[in-house]
Amino acid sequence: MNDLFSSYKRFGIFGPSEAGKTTLAKKISWHLFKTEKRKSLVLDPVAKDFWGNHAQVFTKEDEFWKIIFRERNGLVIVDDASVTINRDNELNGVFTTLRHQGHKLLVIGHSAGNLLPQMREQLQRIFLFLQNRDSVEKWQTCFPGADLSDAVNLRQYEFLTVANFQPALRVKLTK
Ligand SMILES: Nc1ncnc2c1ncn2[C@@H]1O[C@H](COP(=O)(O)OP(=O)(O)O)[C@@H](O)[C@H]1O
Ligand SMILES: [Mg+2]
Repeated sequence: MNDLFSSYKRFGIFGPSEAGKTTLAKKISWHLFKTEKRKSLVLDPVAKDFWGNHAQVFTKEDEFWKIIFRERNGLVIVDDASVTINRDNELNGVFTTLRHQGHKLLVIGHSAGNLLPQMREQLQRIFLFLQNRDSVEKWQTCFPGADLSDAVNLRQYEFLTVANFQPALRVKLTK
């Protein structure tokens, strides 16, 4: 598990509804709390999930961004980017600014198109649940060394994960 996370700062999880994205995000959140003492700062507009006592959950975007620029060394989680970040050019700067706060970032979305290309390029490890061909093609340009074609063939609760210079791994999510 450590190899998947410790050397990276920006992560993404992408897939359709009910794929297991939030379940995986909660595992990552707990892992980074245990191993790096990072609290999670979660933007969850629906807020139907309990993220744990190590997590602070926000439903309002303006409040969320205000807090993360005050806090340090957290794990910033945006669930889900298709309704929040949504290719918004203004939020592009967030990706780079977070670095100066010592935060790590986890963005959750449906497909590659939820992020602008320059945002996608900043993700160092991604977790792909079922994707369409168009989305896989976009991710493939970010991770040219790995074969992501399996991402169009995944079952529910199955994902591929890949990082730069690493092969893609196919994993079954446990609850
Ligand atoms: N490995 C698994 N096996 C069975 N059920 C699971 C598994 N992973 C997640 N679930 C359940 O499936 C539902 C959808 O998972 P969730 O993580 O909320 O998906 P998403 O965030 O992609 O919509 C939830 O009720 C969750 O508890
Ligand atoms: Mg979810």
